[in-house]
Amino acid sequence: DEEEQKAEGSSDLDTSSDEEEDENVTNPTETRDPKETDAKEEVTEEQKATEQKEQKEKKTSEQEKVQNKAPSQPAVFIPVDRSPEIQEARLKLPVLAEEQVIMEAVRENPGIVICGETGSGKTTQVPQFLYEAGYASDGQIIGITEPRRVAAVSMSHRVAKEMNLPPQVVSYQIRYEGNVTSDTKIKFMTDGVLLKEIQKDFLLRRYRVIIIDEAHERSVYTDILIGLLSRIVPLRNKKGMPMKLLIMSATLRVEDFTDNQRLFRTPPPVIKVDSRQFPVTIHFNKRTPMEDYTGEAFHKTCKIHRMLPPGGILVFLTGQAEVHNLCRRLRNAFPFRKNNTTAGEWQPPHTLKYLKAKSSLPRIDLDNYSALPVDEGDEDREAGIGDEEDGGSDLDIGDDLADSEEKADPSIPLYVLPLYSLLAPEQQAKVFRPPPPGTRLCVVATNVAETSLTIPGIKYVVDCGRVKKRFYDRVTGVSSFKVTWTSQASANQRAGRAGRTEPGHCYRLYSSAVFGDFSLFSEAEITRRPVEDLVLQMKDLNIDKVVNFPFPTPPSTEALVAAEQLLVSLGALEEPPRTGRVKQIQQASLSCPITPLGRAMASFPVTPRYAKMLALGKQQDCLPYVIAVVAAMTVREIFEDLDRPARSEEESTKLTQRRARMTQMRRLWAGQGAALQLGDLMVLLGAVGACEFAGCTPKFCEDNGLRYKAMVEIRKLRGQLTNAVNAVCPEVGVFVDPKMTPPTEHQVVCLRQIVLAGLGDHLARRVQAEDLLDPKWKNGYKTPLMDDPVFIHPNSALFKTLPEFVVYQEVMETTKMYMRGVSAVEAEWIPQLLPQYCHFSSPEESPLPWFCSSSGTIRCHRKSTFFRVGWQLPAVEMA
Ligand code: CDP
Ligand code: MG
Repeated sequence: DEEEQKAEGSSDLDTSSDEEEDENVTNPTETRDPKETDAKEEVTEEQKATEQKEQKEKKTSEQEKVQNKAPSQPAVFIPVDRSPEIQEARLKLPVLAEEQVIMEAVRENPGIVICGETGSGKTTQVPQFLYEAGYASDGQIIGITEPRRVAAVSMSHRVAKEMNLPPQVVSYQIRYEGNVTSDTKIKFMTDGVLLKEIQKDFLLRRYRVIIIDEAHERSVYTDILIGLLSRIVPLRNKKGMPMKLLIMSATLRVEDFTDNQRLFRTPPPVIKVDSRQFPVTIHFNKRTPMEDYTGEAFHKTCKIHRMLPPGGILVFLTGQAEVHNLCRRLRNAFPFRKNNTTAGEWQPPHTLKYLKAKSSLPRIDLDNYSALPVDEGDEDREAGIGDEEDGGSDLDIGDDLADSEEKADPSIPLYVLPLYSLLAPEQQAKVFRPPPPGTRLCVVATNVAETSLTIPGIKYVVDCGRVKKRFYDRVTGVSSFKVTWTSQASANQRAGRAGRTEPGHCYRLYSSAVFGDFSLFSEAEITRRPVEDLVLQMKDLNIDKVVNFPFPTPPSTEALVAAEQLLVSLGALEEPPRTGRVKQIQQASLSCPITPLGRAMASFPVTPRYAKMLALGKQQDCLPYVIAVVAAMTVREIFEDLDRPARSEEESTKLTQRRARMTQMRRLWAGQGAALQLGDLMVLLGAVGACEFAGCTPKFCEDNGLRYKAMVEIRKLRGQLTNAVNAVCPEVGVFVDPKMTPPTEHQVVCLRQIVLAGLGDHLARRVQAEDLLDPKWKNGYKTPLMDDPVFIHPNSALFKTLPEFVVYQEVMETTKMYMRGVSAVEAEWIPQLLPQYCHFSSPEESPLPWFCSSSGTIRCHRKSTFFRVGWQLPAVEMA
C-alpha cells in the first residue's frame, strides 16, 4: 500500500501525566456522599456477580491473565436496567466477551484502538461499558463520532432503547438537528459536529471520553479529529482533567494510527474483538462482465432466490440509479401482492409461472448449496422468467420440486428494498425491520451497507466489486464520479455481511484474477479531495503550519499549497511575504495566519468560497438570498434524477411528462432580464422560494421534479446559516423568513457580484470567434487552469445565452466537461472585485484580456491582464 508514511518529528504526548489520571479514574466518586457510593457499590457487586457468571464461559485464558495483573475494579458501577430480551441479545455479541479487557486498557492508557468486524457490537456496546464504569457520572459525558448522519441517529436510538433510557440521556447531534439536553450522558454525533466543537473549546471540557467510530472509513473529519485528539488528550491529562480516546475500526489495518510517531509517541494498544463471524463461502465468477454488472447481479439474485434455502440477500451496486433499476427488475420478476382479506398475509405470486421458468434451469445439488453454478450461459435470462409459453411439462416441474421443496421454495415472494445514503430516512429504516412473513428479504444497496449499518438476517451477498467515487483533480478542480474496482478490504467487508447469523455465501461478480488485482485497501479520503475547508478550520484553531499537523495520512503538499493560495485570495488568510521566487512564495504561504474575515468565514459551516459570499451578503439586504443560494449549492442535487431508464411504456410516458414539467419550471424559476443573468443560481433561488411558498410539501416536490429530502435539508441549512451569520454579526439581525419575495433587479446585480467575489477562481470566458482555431472549442469556455474547453450544460439557464464571462460552482466531467451552477459576470466587475487575480496593464495599453501563444493554443495565466485599471463600477464593498 502506497500510503505508507515515514514517521518524523516528535510528539508532545506526555506519558507521565497518565498515572495521575489513573487515580482519578479508579476513584471518581471521591467527592461524593459516601452513603451514595456504598449503595451503588452494593448494586454493583450484585450486578457484577451476575455479569461475571454470564461471561465466564467466554473468557479466554489471555483475558484471565490480563485480569489478574490488572488493578482493582472501578469504584463506581452505574446500573442499567435492560430488558431480558436485550440482555440476551447483548450476550451474543462478541464485544461483550472483551468488556474486561477493553475497560482495563481504557483505565491504563490515554488512548486505545478497538478492532472488530462490523456487527460485533462496538458501536452499541462500548459506550454502554463506559457508562456503566462511571465515565459519564461526574457531569462529563461520553461522545461518539460517526462519519455518517444516518449512523449517528440510528445508533443513539438503538443504545437508548437497549439501556432503557430516554433520548434526553442518550442523544444525538448531527448537522441540522439533535436532541442533546443538559441531562445527556452519551452523545452520538457526526465527526464534523465534534470538529466544530473543538473550535469553540479546544480542550473539549464537556467530554470525559471521545470514541472515534468507523475510523477505517478514513473520512477526512475523522482523520483530522484523530490528529487533534492526539494533542488534546495529553494536554487534558497534563492539566489534571483526564480524558480518554477510543478509536474503533472494522478492519485490522490501523497502522496509520498506531505506528505513527507523529500522532502517538507511545503506540496505543490494539484490542481485537474476535467476531463470531460464521464462515462465508466465496464464489468467484469465471468471467468478469465489464459493462452490465447490474444485469449480472439480477441473474445471480434470481438464481439464489429460486434455488437456495431461506436467508436474506444483500446486493452491492455502486449508485442510486443502479439500485433502483435492479429493484424494479427484481420486483417485476418476483412480485408479491398483499391479500386484502387476511391482513398481514402475503399472497404468493402465480406459482406455476415460476415453476415453469425454473424447470429450464440446471439442476443443482441442494445438500451442497455452496455449489451454485457459476453463471455462464443465458439459460436464466430475464425474458425466460414468467414466459408461460416456454418451459417444460408439469411433470418436470413436479420432479424438480421434489428435491427443493424443503429448502428452497421458488414461489416465495421477494421483498426488495433499496438502500443508499440519499434515500429518505423512513425508507432506510425499513431494512432493519423483519420482512413480511413468507417473503425473502433482498436489499439492494450502495456501499453504505458495507460497514456502518448491519442488516439483520443476511445470508447471501452479491458483490459487483465496484464502487462509485468522486475524483477530484487537484490542479484543475474538476470533479467526476467514476465507477472503479473496490479494494480487497472492502470486498472482504462486503462478503462478511453474509456470515452474521449463520454460515453464508458471497457471490462475486468478477473473477479471482480480477480480485487479485484490486488494491489492498481503499485510500484515505483526505488524499482525494480539496482541503481548503480543512485548512481554514485548522487556521481558526491557530494551527498555522498546517504541513506540520499530525494527519494519520497527510494530504499532498500541492493540495495544501493550493488551499492556502485560495484562502489568501479570498482574504481569509494574510498575504504571505513576497520573496520573488515562486517556490519561496509557496513555502512561505504554508503558514499564513488567519484574518478576522477568515475567522468569520470559519464559523460558517460551508466551503470557504460560499463562506465568503455569506460574509459579503449583508449588503443591499441580500443576506436572505445569499443564505438561500449557498444552502442550495451546498446540498447536492436538488433536482430529481429523471433521466433514469423506464421499465415500462407507462412509466416512460410518465417520466417524459415529468421531465417536461421540470424543464418548464426551471425556465420559470430562471426568470427573465436581469434575473436570468444570475443563471443557475437564480433557478436554485426560485426553486427554494417556490417550494417554501408552497409549504415545502412532498407533493410540491414530486410535482416539480425536486428532491424532497434535499429541500428539507436546504430549509434546515438556511436556519443554521442564519444563526451563524447572526452570531458573527448581531447587528445584521437577519431572520429566517421561509417565504422570500423574489429579489429586485438591483439585488440581483448585487447577488451576481457577491457570487463573483466568492467564486473568483472559477471564472471562465467564452472563446472568441477569432480564437476559434479548433472546432472542439465551439461554444466552449476557457478557464485559467485548464487546457481544454469547458461547456455550459444544456440544462443550464444560460445555455442559450452563452454570456462572455461566467463563474461556475464546479466542473463535472460526464460526457463532456460541464460547468455546474453557472452565473453570468460583467467584465468590468472583474478588476474591481478580483484585483488579486488581475495583472493591470498601463492605461495607454489596449485591454488585452487573454493572449494567444505562438503555438496557437489559447492560454490564460492566473495573473494575465484582464483590463485596464480605473473602470467605474457599481460597487459592492469588499468586507
Ligand atoms: O459497531 P459494530 O458494527 O461492531 O456493531 P453494532 O452496530 O454495535 O451492532 C451490534 C448488533 O446490534 C448487530 O447485530 C446489529 O444488527 C444490532 N443492531 C440492531 O439490531 N438494531 C440497530 N438499530 C443497531 C444494531
Ligand atoms: Mg459500528
